[in-house]
Amino acid sequence: MTVSIAHTQTLDAPAGGVRSVTDARGALDALGRHLASFQSDGTTQEYLSRLCDIVDRLAVEHAGMAEELLGVYEQLGVVFEMTGRLPALHREADVFSLYLDCLRRSFSSRTVFVADPFVLAAGGSQEANSICADWIDRIVFQAKDGGRVVVEHPPSKDDESAVAEVMVGPIFAGSTFVCAIVLVAKERDDTFQSSDMLLLESLNMFCGDLIRSIRLVNEVREMSLDMVRALVNAVDQKDQYTSGHSVRVGYFATVLAKEIGLKDEELRMLRWGALLHDVGKIGIRDEVLKKQGSLTKEEFDHIKEHPVRSHQIVQEVPQLAQALGGVLYHHERYDGKGYPEGLSGEDIPVHARIIQIADVFDALTSNRSYRAAYSWEKALKILEEGAGEAVDPQFQLLFDRIIHERLDEKTDGWEELIATANRFARREEDELLPGANHPSQASE
Ligand SMILES: [Fe+2]
Repeated sequence: MTVSIAHTQTLDAPAGGVRSVTDARGALDALGRHLASFQSDGTTQEYLSRLCDIVDRLAVEHAGMAEELLGVYEQLGVVFEMTGRLPALHREADVFSLYLDCLRRSFSSRTVFVADPFVLAAGGSQEANSICADWIDRIVFQAKDGGRVVVEHPPSKDDESAVAEVMVGPIFAGSTFVCAIVLVAKERDDTFQSSDMLLLESLNMFCGDLIRSIRLVNEVREMSLDMVRALVNAVDQKDQYTSGHSVRVGYFATVLAKEIGLKDEELRMLRWGALLHDVGKIGIRDEVLKKQGSLTKEEFDHIKEHPVRSHQIVQEVPQLAQALGGVLYHHERYDGKGYPEGLSGEDIPVHARIIQIADVFDALTSNRSYRAAYSWEKALKILEEGAGEAVDPQFQLLFDRIIHERLDEKTDGWEELIATANRFARREEDELLPGANHPSQASE
């Protein structure tokens, strides 16, 4: 394209045309030089000058938009990564660990830590302890009270040597304050932009929603557990001699399952199965369940219905589908002489073989209407005699070892163990298991 300026003068447009703000500015500069080469009037020069101002302003806006776009891109990247790893996160601590990791990558030149009295008290942030100053605490409260991201400079020259600027963003789970994220810029030429504030605000909101979801899931989980415990208690209460039996079976079965190597979801399902294995006794006639003398064949057949009845009850809960095998087959025997189906050896589901050992052990060590409780040593001996016939021989060996390790040479070991088993299925259930990563475990 050629622009005609005068009959005798021509100006070539930039090769490739005007495609960007920079191109436009270059074209205007060329036009200015061209006009200067001959006598143009003042109005033309002024129009040109205004045009240059407009293009310069556009250039600044363009640069700002590019930076903002980059911020949004980073934000999307972090959110995408977090949502991708979301299904694996079940604990708030895991969310924070992942979140801080993402923030440290997004704000690579800045120090990032969580400001929260509980986290700090737990030694959660050495960085915070080294940098934290009273004035940062004040900003944390300011951000919390205002519910927004706050950026501030150090108030005194002393603080400026370590910190150039601080950005603090609160995290709320619904309306509940969880903690604040503190970002520290140490260099003067690396302070925070509005896009950084926007990024932190959006990510904190996302993180807060995540925490809220986890808390809701945990509440529902606790509620389910409460309901199961109530149900299990109702069954156990039918017979004073079986009071607490299911909970203790849950404990012993879980201890053995951990030793066998069951983990995570499978361990959880085993635990549900063990807690619910006798729930079908709710449908067994009281006079049969509580009968002190020997049972008639009809009465014994009636009692033998309970694993199937338990199975029918538990299968109504689709989330417990993986627990059904342990429930239905916990009275099978390794030699195939058990019930309800007469399965043998490894055809009996692993969960059922585990629950069976725990069930027999607790029954032997508990008082019954027809006999006093056996000692744990005698109960282990009876299990040993039944290895390969009544119970899985390998699981029996493992169980024998676990109990001996816990009780040998401990005077009050049995009382302590039973007290621990009786507390199983309460909220602190995970803390009761050997090897649990919890401070209270240190004494066990
Ligand atoms: Fe049973």
